[in-house]
Amino acid sequence: MENQEKKRILSMYQCTGTFTLGNYLGALRNHIKLQEEGYDCVYALADLHALTVRQVPAELRKYTKEAYAWLLAMGLDLSKTIFFIQSQVPEHCQLAWLLNCYTQFGELSRMTQFKDKSAKHADNINAGLFTYPCLMAADILLYQADYVPVGADQKQHVEIARDIAERFNGIYGDVFTVPEPMIPKHGARVMSLQNPLSKMSKSDENQNGNISVLDDPDTIMRKFKRAKTDSGSEVRFGEGKEGVNNLMGIYAAVTGKSFDEIEAEFAGKGYGEFKPAVAEAVIAELRPIQERYREIVADKAYLEETYRAQAPKAQAIARRTLSKAMKKVGLVQ
Ligand code: TRP
Repeated sequence: MENQEKKRILSMYQCTGTFTLGNYLGALRNHIKLQEEGYDCVYALADLHALTVRQVPAELRKYTKEAYAWLLAMGLDLSKTIFFIQSQVPEHCQLAWLLNCYTQFGELSRMTQFKDKSAKHADNINAGLFTYPCLMAADILLYQADYVPVGADQKQHVEIARDIAERFNGIYGDVFTVPEPMIPKHGARVMSLQNPLSKMSKSDENQNGNISVLDDPDTIMRKFKRAKTDSGSEVRFGEGKEGVNNLMGIYAAVTGKSFDEIEAEFAGKGYGEFKPAVAEAVIAELRPIQERYREIVADKAYLEETYRAQAPKAQAIARRTLSKAMKKVGLVQ
């Protein structure tokens, strides 16, 4: 009965580019650890959400497979965790439609991500972008997830999923588990190396600002050496020193050292020695994963077989919830 006592965690990732060091240290690495911490984890690639912004079809396909291989290379364990591709489980779209009918125009209009993305893609404010939170609520509620680990930018979406679940349960009885956002303990917030006031992002125009998890050692070294720091030279955490703070955060996340230990290690040494040390630590962290990644992507048949075999496992859970919801609202079974 162990399984019933385990709390379920659900998370999904957009796959519109290669993961960055920020995705890796801020989310992926911590999420994968949760499978060892007694949680029942369900993870997926949110390729349907990716369509809310225009994608190049061949690239979306490529990035989806790449992202899948990367999580396997990181050690995601398919004997413990379900890991699938959202579009391969049609129940997500089906439940999303139902939830659309229990979500108000007004509440979707207030979503900050909708407002931001509408401003950014003014030529393509499509209905999918608007109802994105309903699809995300379906992702979460289908699996009766207890916790959803998310960064600050997605917290509002988990909150609306809770509101929708409570509203639905209020009318029809307990259909959905009401999920809680989970703020991971060690979630490093990695900023751009070129503009340490904004988050590291794969869509950063300045490619020197972001480290891709697939960057080779020379590229990683070069980008860290060019990282923006302030005019001082002391390796010390402090206000107004966002560049150094960010590098210290990365070094701490990768080596497990505290900020005090890092300051002591580099006392009297300056940025000139600190930056390459951060680069070396990141290179050493990524190297074994990159090696496994290359083996996995080289074996296309294995990769395809693997993700295809995961969809029915997710579907078995999703279908139970969907049919319960369909029955409750009066659809003929
Ligand atoms: N919207 C999330 C993001 O952009 C991705 C996502 C889709 C998600 N469905 C989800 C995250 C369900 C958590 C749970 O990062």
